[in-house]
Amino acid sequence: MSLKLRNLTPDDYLPLRAVVDEWWGGRAVAGLLPRLFFNFFQTTSFAVEDGDAPVDGLLVAFLVGFVSQTNPAQAYIHFVGVHPGYRAQGLGRLLYEHFFEVVWGLGCREVEAITSPVNQGSIAFHRSLGFEILPGDAEVDGVEVFSDYAGPGQPRVLFRRDLS
Ligand SMILES: CC(C)(COP(=O)(O)OP(=O)(O)OC[C@H]1O[C@@H](n2cnc3c(N)ncnc32)[C@H](O)[C@@H]1OP(=O)(O)O)[C@@H](O)C(=O)NCCC(=O)NCCS
Repeated sequence: MSLKLRNLTPDDYLPLRAVVDEWWGGRAVAGLLPRLFFNFFQTTSFAVEDGDAPVDGLLVAFLVGFVSQTNPAQAYIHFVGVHPGYRAQGLGRLLYEHFFEVVWGLGCREVEAITSPVNQGSIAFHRSLGFEILPGDAEVDGVEVFSDYAGPGQPRVLFRRDLS
């Protein structure tokens, strides 16, 4: 495989919007990925292309993240997705480790991310990448959550990873 890691661009918006619901197993997530991320967060957002795919330059993985304006020592990963046919090959790890390196260079010392408690794969992935789960105010399936984080009755798991 000839994989190329590069920054995300506005041209990636429509192709990714078209596939993310499928990549998330049928969940409607495209609305959580507005074009603004592709326009204004390119320095800390990345894509992986497969140069050998039948469609040249096929996008097979991406990460959207940014540095906190509130606390510039903190970075946040908003979205990560890997094409279902390219999972369990280290692409998610590659994107996260690249993000860690880039935001470290920008002065960040910790990274946060969230996920839905139903997303067991994402919870396992973040644990493997060295994230701790922050103590919340409730538990779902034995995992600490913040119960109304995304709105009433919409719990989220909060992750933090120290970069130093
Ligand atoms: C979560 C996701 C990004 C992982 O990508 P990936 O490229 O398959 O992950 P990697 O191969 O880099 O795996 C990295 C580590 O996480 C672990 N991991 C990844 N997915 C896992 C899963 N579903 N269950 C258990 N462990 C998992 C791997 O075992 C690996 O551990 P190791 O490096 O210690 O051996 C991918 O499954 C995906 O796109 N899921 C749908 C979208 C999503 O839920 N995104 C996250 C929320 S925004």
